[in-house]
Amino acid sequence: FGSRLHILESTTSTQIEAIKLAEEGAEAGTLVISDMQTSGRGRLGRSWFSPAGKGIWMSLVLRPELPVRFMPQLTLLTGVAVCSAIRTVTGVEAGLKWPNDILIGGRKVCGILLEAATEDNKVRYCIAGIGIDVNLSEQDYPEELRSIATSLRMEAGTSVSRSKLIGAVMNELEARYLQYEKEGFAPILKEWEALSASIGKQVRSVALNQVIEGTAIGLSDSGGLMVLTEEGMNSTIFSGEVEIIQ
Ligand code: BTN
Repeated sequence: FGSRLHILESTTSTQIEAIKLAEEGAEAGTLVISDMQTSGRGRLGRSWFSPAGKGIWMSLVLRPELPVRFMPQLTLLTGVAVCSAIRTVTGVEAGLKWPNDILIGGRKVCGILLEAATEDNKVRYCIAGIGIDVNLSEQDYPEELRSIATSLRMEAGTSVSRSKLIGAVMNELEARYLQYEKEGFAPILKEWEALSASIGKQVRSVALNQVIEGTAIGLSDSGGLMVLTEEGMNSTIFSGEVEIIQ
């Protein structure tokens, strides 16, 4: 992964660039990196703050031969790879919040967005977008993000090499991807649980006007978050947003 590199100074969104390349036939492993994004996009239609020179804003073209229903597993796999790379390079104990936010001390340091082009319920290609707040300092953040976001530099107390981290993320992703092809989702699921900042915590999810609140107890085989409610009921969350209450 990352052997074909497109390095940009500025773009609207690396997702859009990567989709363009994928449509033109770019091979799996093609990576688009930009120093800044003018309209970085997040999950659920949100925007993603992507200032110049301070973060890793990148999108990877993948061509998995998978039915669409396996996409959530690929999303979790990406989270595991990035979280593990962050831990290795910085020594900071980053953890995963379902489905694939990466948190340090309860604040978000990385967001992941997987978008797939599909045909007949199969994935044609998929773009894994990864945004990591690397060297931002407190003042770099707009007011509304200060209490919920953090950077690796703020947490590690020293600036972090973006190129080193990009290399580590690519290595971890490639290794997990090959493992997934050979051994399926089970080993990834175990790893996700080990890196989790959600499991054992009180969580609340609101989806389709239904509130589920309880203790997160693990991942289901297909990658949903299993929650044990106070009434002793087992529910599995498959989409939307999950808030960690305590
Ligand atoms: C989230 O909402 O948590 C996902 C954020 C994903 C941001 C990354 S930055 C690189 C890539 N390009 C984008 O426009 N978004 C993703």
